[in-house]
Amino acid sequence: MEELSKTLKGLGLEQVPQEPNTYPELNPFDIYRSHITELLAEVSGVDKKIIYPTLAWTAKPENGDLQLAVPALRLKGKDLKAYAQELADKFPESPLVKKPVVTGTFVGFFFKPESLTSIVLPLIFKAGQSYGFNKSFGLKEDGSKKKMVIDFSSPNIAKPFHAGHLRSTIIGGFLSNLYEGMGWDVVRLNYLGDWGKQYGVLAIGFDYFGSEEELVKNPIGHLYDIYVKVSNIQKDEADKVKALKAEVVKDKEEGKDTSAKEAEIKKIEEEGIDEKARQYFKGMVDGEPKAIGIWKRFRELSIEKYKQTYARLNIHYDVYSGESQIKDESMDLGVKVMWEKKVCEDSEGAVIVDLTKHSKKLGKAVVQKKDGTSLYLTRDIGAAYERMQTYHPDKLMYVVASQQDLHLAQLFKIEELMGWKDISSISQHINFGMVLGMSTRKGTAKFLDDILRDVGEKMHEVMRGNQAKYEQVEDPEKTSDTLGISAVMVQDMKGKRINNYHFDMDRMTSFEGDTGPYLQYAHARLCSIYRKAVDADESLKDLDLATVDFGELQEPHAVDLIRQLASWPDTFLNTFKTQEPTTVLTYLFKMSHAVSASYDHLQVVSSDKKVNVPRLALYVAARQVLNNGMRVLGLSPVERM
Ligand code: ARG
Repeated sequence: MEELSKTLKGLGLEQVPQEPNTYPELNPFDIYRSHITELLAEVSGVDKKIIYPTLAWTAKPENGDLQLAVPALRLKGKDLKAYAQELADKFPESPLVKKPVVTGTFVGFFFKPESLTSIVLPLIFKAGQSYGFNKSFGLKEDGSKKKMVIDFSSPNIAKPFHAGHLRSTIIGGFLSNLYEGMGWDVVRLNYLGDWGKQYGVLAIGFDYFGSEEELVKNPIGHLYDIYVKVSNIQKDEADKVKALKAEVVKDKEEGKDTSAKEAEIKKIEEEGIDEKARQYFKGMVDGEPKAIGIWKRFRELSIEKYKQTYARLNIHYDVYSGESQIKDESMDLGVKVMWEKKVCEDSEGAVIVDLTKHSKKLGKAVVQKKDGTSLYLTRDIGAAYERMQTYHPDKLMYVVASQQDLHLAQLFKIEELMGWKDISSISQHINFGMVLGMSTRKGTAKFLDDILRDVGEKMHEVMRGNQAKYEQVEDPEKTSDTLGISAVMVQDMKGKRINNYHFDMDRMTSFEGDTGPYLQYAHARLCSIYRKAVDADESLKDLDLATVDFGELQEPHAVDLIRQLASWPDTFLNTFKTQEPTTVLTYLFKMSHAVSASYDHLQVVSSDKKVNVPRLALYVAARQVLNNGMRVLGLSPVERM
């Protein structure tokens, strides 16, 4: 605070403006908002508590940096237009803001450029990697951190990792970073689809078609291949039984002997894949060591492989849980409570919850099958209960495609009806739309690794297009991989989550337009400016940029860029409200555009240090903000490309 207070004194302000719950050292906009609030309270007599929250961003820069909507002051019996003008006229001379500008009933405030330069840049250098983030928001009254358990990605073993899982991974990774940036404790949880009769089918399939070597080399692909083969046989057998049964009926009518066909049916029913899988899965349920052993191996090898792929996306899980991990006791407890609270009813031996009483849309949900086995929904009830017991979270998040809107709405409603409001009230479904046409050059994509590889290769091709630059990149393989991943991620996060989008390899890998490679390029270029400047003048390396005199930076491009940089902490806060990655992305693109518009006007080549150094510092600050924003999104900023 001391530095800031000195800076502000230098500008002519005796005290650091600070309204309650604001963070002048972390967020420049807080300083301006508090300051304007103080002055407006003086001239209007309105309570600061009312003024502060009405000072909002403007839609257009020509309306100011902050704007007061006079009607929001809730003053009775005043001509609001005239009053807006009166407020502007009475607004005193200030070291931080210019004379206000009135448009209709709005009063617009422009920050003074000289105040911006001296306040914002030192603040960025001081905060560095944490500029924009504010860990105080995640603290509870007692000073401990709020905790979120976030269930995301959650693919199904031996099945394709489809677009829904890809989006869940990207969006979930982003939300985890977002909450961490706000000071929350985040438990990243992968809830694998790893239980059910299909894993019996898979184990039987492994007996037939499995190869130990392949399994170790490529568990996910190999298990998937086996699963496809064995399910085909399973299906053929089922078709066969159906056809035979029909024939038997017909034969009987015609008085023919059906014993051979009946024997065949019996054989399939007793020895076919389906029955074998059923028995196998029963073994798993009963905890038979052999059955459990094989399944566990599949699971562990798959997890190992997933971990490597997630690492490419900068994602690390705290827990690999899954449907298999939910204890019977938890699910039994759930059903018990449902009976006690009269939430469920019997329906021909099965247990169902009739939610239509509460909302037609929610329908009827089965929570226990006739044979007593549980379902996806029942497991999720048990899972939620266990998450509460284990982590005592303040928030439970489920990042799942909107195809499962009904499932999650049912889950939360049932929990509420069960009286488990401590769970339902903190649960949130983060949904998202579909990816259309997700095919790569090798056909419709099935595995995350294939997608990332294909996009990486495409990026490599694009990079080769510029041979001179290409030769300077140290590890083109690795860089193209990173760029490819950024391409996929940015395309995914560009629109609102709920929108569908087309997987468009050519567009996402382009350097033009709002793409991942464009952002990476913007970052790499900022890095290169610094490298070149230091190469030309070694002494710059040890310079503490926070102490530079920024007085020279008054060019419109510089001021515009600083304004952008100043608004990053507010943007981050707003992102916490929207929970949309596009809030960050839109900001980063806008900011990068301001950077690239500056290059011609603010070159770092003159031999005049007084001009050079502040400009360099401005670019370093911009790089820092871009870097911070990219990391929230889960991108790995590259330094050269
Ligand atoms: N494995 C599920 C699927 O692929 C997603 C699981 C989402 N999480 C949950 N708690 N239901 O559809």
